[in-house]
Amino acid sequence: MAKPKRRYICSECGSVSTRWQGQCPDCQEWNTLVEEAPETKFTAKHDLSSGGRAIRFESLDAPTKPLARNTTGLAEFDRALGGGIVPGSAILMGGEPGIGKSTLLLQAAASISKAGGEVVYVSGEEATGQVRMRASRLGVADAPLRLASATSVRDILTTLGQGDPPAMLVVDSIQTMHSDQIEGAPGTVSQVRASAFELIRFAKEKGTCLVLVGHVTKDGNIAGPRVLEHMVDTVMSFEGERSHQYRILRCLKNRFGAVDEIGVFAMESEGLTEVSNPSSLFLSGREEPMAGSAVFPAIEGTRPVLVEVQALIVRLQSGATPRRAVVGWDNGRLAMLLAVLEARCGLSFSTAEVYLNVAGGYRLSDPAADLAVAAALVSALADKPLAQDAIWLGEVALSGEIRPCAHAGLRLREAAKLGFSNGIGPELAGQDVAGLRYAPVSGVAALVDRVMATQ
Ligand code: TYD
Ligand code: MG
Repeated sequence: MAKPKRRYICSECGSVSTRWQGQCPDCQEWNTLVEEAPETKFTAKHDLSSGGRAIRFESLDAPTKPLARNTTGLAEFDRALGGGIVPGSAILMGGEPGIGKSTLLLQAAASISKAGGEVVYVSGEEATGQVRMRASRLGVADAPLRLASATSVRDILTTLGQGDPPAMLVVDSIQTMHSDQIEGAPGTVSQVRASAFELIRFAKEKGTCLVLVGHVTKDGNIAGPRVLEHMVDTVMSFEGERSHQYRILRCLKNRFGAVDEIGVFAMESEGLTEVSNPSSLFLSGREEPMAGSAVFPAIEGTRPVLVEVQALIVRLQSGATPRRAVVGWDNGRLAMLLAVLEARCGLSFSTAEVYLNVAGGYRLSDPAADLAVAAALVSALADKPLAQDAIWLGEVALSGEIRPCAHAGLRLREAAKLGFSNGIGPELAGQDVAGLRYAPVSGVAALVDRVMATQ
């Protein structure tokens, strides 16, 4: 019988090659091919339709124990997790280097241990002295957590296996961990996968909540294999601009809850503080009325967040191709809005450079932001500031019509709470616009008239 062929499987895209190559021929990723056991020929012996044990089926409404959740002591962290951490679950905390992952987890770990939970914090990146220094800066040096600097998964699990399992185990970071079951340096695809596998198995068996820190590459992927994201229950991402103060904790995958809530923090000199009213952060610094600035009531999960959209238009003298640059919004959507404004209102952007920025480094993906962007663009083009106390919402259709958006009532109520007194958007049927003067606009032409009429 011929020897079964070796196979190599790409850990990014799953494509199969018959020989090892440095680069995957399908997805072009480097160093992602790993050897897997050869495929076996199926014979009668492999027929799986007999010889097994019968499995028991249950109905969906059978009684289940409610999911236990423990608070992290940080309300914003709990909120992003969907209500706290679930014992026995594995969380992957991704983020760029220096964004504050270690700070956040040390604060959460300290708070859980102060509340009586046993917490083990293993750092593979820093010496215990460095972690201790950070703890004293954060004012949590008195927290009774157990700290170690280690990189061998065997050492960690052997030590933890000897006593009672901790309620929480933080491993900072998974890329520094090393399993002696597998060859290769820490941080390689197979090492990261094997180390995570062993740690997750421990967590599931013992009911420990495991938090793995994972560094993120420039393009936003957790460095190393994507498989890590499939192995854990929850994938979180800690984001923000390092030059800005605020940080957003997002949940990208959650087996135990919704993924649309965010936690907002500000990085201060003595650690991360929670921001329970994010709008105040994203709107700060709007004292002078400026042309090209419009406020949009975004929704994050169930919480409205007011953000400022800024547009800048620079007329070009020469015939050079004008630039369009967007930060925090979609490039394609900007092109579409410019085209709609040109086609439906006769405005011309073709000889002008257009820059669009969502203030504070916030990222918008909600189509309801169209009207605020359009208002900012028209205001910048006409060099007319919009009313300071106005918010703009609604989706712009290719026809130029303004379409309704979800949660309009919630968005308007939040804006009213924050002192805005004018709302401009689509026709609202029976929506509660408490505390706000609401003026519907039917299309972009009416929007341009509105902007031009601003005093
Ligand atoms: P860190 O938690 O080490 O980031 P990560 O683990 O994601 O790599 O945080 C690093 C940055 O946070 C560092 O550049 C300094 C800043 N920082 C503060 O501003 N205040 C603080 O109290 C702490 C501990 C850090
Ligand atoms: Mg760190």
